Amino acid sequence: MQKLNEGFTGLRYLCIFLCIVSTVNAEDPYRFFTWNVTYGDIYPLGVRQQGILINGQFPGPEIYSVTNDNLIINVFNNLPEPFLISWAGIQQRRNSYQDGVYGTNCPIPAGQNFTYKLQVKDQIGSFFYFPSIGFQKAAGGFGAIKILSRPLIPVPFPDPADDHSILIGDWYKSDHTRLRRIMDLGWRLPFPDGVLINGRGDGGVAYNVEQGKTYRLRISNVGLQNSLNFRIAGHTMTLVEVEGTHTVQTSLSSLDIHVGQSYSVLVTADQPPQDYYIAVSSRFTSQVLNTTAILRYTNSGKAVSGPPPPPPTTDITWSLNQARSIRTNLTASGPRPNPQGSYHYGQINISRTIKLTGSASIINRKQRYSVNGVSFIPADTPLKLADYFNISGVFKVGSIPDEPTGAAPYLDTSVMGADFRDFIEIIFENRENIIQSWHLDGYNFFVVGMDSGRWSNTSRNENEFLVRQYLGEQFYLRVYSPVMSPRDEYPLPQNALLCGQAVGKRS
Ligand SMILES: *[C@@H]1O[C@H](CO)[C@@H](O)[C@H](O)[C@H]1NC(C)=O
Ligand SMILES: *[C@@H]1O[C@H](CO)[C@@H](O)[C@H](O)[C@H]1NC(C)=O
Ligand SMILES: *[C@@H]1O[C@H](CO)[C@@H](O)[C@H](O)[C@H]1NC(C)=O
Ligand SMILES: *[C@@H]1O[C@H](CO)[C@@H](O)[C@H](O)[C@H]1NC(C)=O
Ligand SMILES: *[C@@H]1O[C@H](CO)[C@@H](O)[C@H](O)[C@H]1NC(C)=O
Ligand SMILES: *[C@@H]1O[C@H](CO)[C@@H](O)[C@H](O)[C@H]1NC(C)=O
Ligand SMILES: *[C@@H]1O[C@H](CO)[C@@H](O)[C@H](O)[C@H]1NC(C)=O
Repeated sequence: MQKLNEGFTGLRYLCIFLCIVSTVNAEDPYRFFTWNVTYGDIYPLGVRQQGILINGQFPGPEIYSVTNDNLIINVFNNLPEPFLISWAGIQQRRNSYQDGVYGTNCPIPAGQNFTYKLQVKDQIGSFFYFPSIGFQKAAGGFGAIKILSRPLIPVPFPDPADDHSILIGDWYKSDHTRLRRIMDLGWRLPFPDGVLINGRGDGGVAYNVEQGKTYRLRISNVGLQNSLNFRIAGHTMTLVEVEGTHTVQTSLSSLDIHVGQSYSVLVTADQPPQDYYIAVSSRFTSQVLNTTAILRYTNSGKAVSGPPPPPPTTDITWSLNQARSIRTNLTASGPRPNPQGSYHYGQINISRTIKLTGSASIINRKQRYSVNGVSFIPADTPLKLADYFNISGVFKVGSIPDEPTGAAPYLDTSVMGADFRDFIEIIFENRENIIQSWHLDGYNFFVVGMDSGRWSNTSRNENEFLVRQYLGEQFYLRVYSPVMSPRDEYPLPQNALLCGQAVGKRS
């Protein structure tokens, strides 16, 4: 799963463990979706470009669900290239064969379809889905995921008058195939061309509000690399949820949202009736990208005028302090009526410490990015399938060290081994002068601390950068259990697509 916490220059640290949960309840409701993925013309920054549409929409349709719903999503890939969707925030416990990332699933070949079967078991909150391969996220194919609490479960704030998903992100005027060509040639990508709000960079999105009512906004950064600041002229926002966890409710005048993160805020229309700017700008970049939307009172007597509200200070400490101030509301219900509970980090025996450092370098005369000195190259077969069918030679466990070694970076299908039920602490140490985001797929984790400077064992934090992932800044953690038990992991689904050396194999 992806719970992207704050990405910062400095040190970051988090923990992973495998949760064992009760089995799927066959009584839980089903929701069926049929998605047609196609290319289509879009004009987000005023010029025509090729976008990835789902049922003709950019961004894609919102998935509305309630805790424990089963989601059956039949995706028809009508692009001329393979396509794969990642359900970022949805925790695929024991269900990695539905994850939608290169290491676990074969992409849906051009012209074919595949049905994902997911369950939002014991989950609530705000998430989004996106295409996980081929830099396709730069062309669309993403959309919001809303998981509401079941009717009897108390939510720690009154029902909002309305509940909007707002997808923000940086954007290029070039389509993903062009961007991909630039990277494949070994060149660096230019700085993005703009910022979008729900697929528009022209200020044209408006949210209507009624005087005196309170609204929930679920804001996700679906972009490629830039952290973004979100604010509304004349209004404060109350933070209530971060990716499935209710937070201690704090009042904010603006909010930094890093790539991959999703936040819910409440906004009350308690100001004089008129139109107000909603402003989004890139953070910590020499060139500032901006866009706006409108918060429009239904009894509005005045259109927006003057400049949009300026972003806060670019002092990184401000942003770090804001991130550190976010706390779980331990007495609020999550997906179940009992409180969210606390988590005693200090009482768990850590089996292993891994330190991850990303870096940029030229390998074979091309721009590449590495983790601990290894720049990831995909193998011909998804790694989980190679394991499942006992296909040797696809990857080597241990092809990436637990810590950076200082050796010259090289290319490999990097896979680190881990034992089932290990409790691992991971330190993300950012030695570069950019904000790094890490996407930890398939796992539930807790950010236990973050700070600037080098990590040491007496100190005892996250973000994502799509160019870097495309060019090798990724690796796989193989959590292996010799016992194939559905209690630990569901079997390979019957409709699983087989590719590479797994073609023709059947369980
Ligand atoms: C998907 O959309 C394309 C283009 O509009 C259309 O030709 C095709 O028939 C659609 N396929 C499905 C399964 O709806
Ligand atoms: C493709 O779609 C058809 C229905 O249109 C469905 O019966 C079939 O199971 C789907 N294929 C996969 C692999 O999910
Ligand atoms: C935490 O949740 C409880 C239970 O719903 C609520 O009463 C309380 O106001 C919340 N506390 C804060 C600080 O947000
Ligand atoms: C974005 O907003 C900032 C601060 O309000 C301003 O300095 C900058 O010129 C704007 N940039 C663009 C491209 O409009
Ligand atoms: C941690 O390890 C110690 C020593 O082996 C053991 O006594 C303790 O019960 C373990 N704690 C947990 C939570 O497993
Ligand atoms: C893979 O190897 C394991 C252990 O050697 C064996 O139990 C399993 O049946 C094999 N799986 C396949 C699909 O051959
Ligand atoms: C920190 O690491 C050093 C060297 O690895 C070790 O000697 C020391 O005991 C560790 N301290 C703590 C508090 O774990």
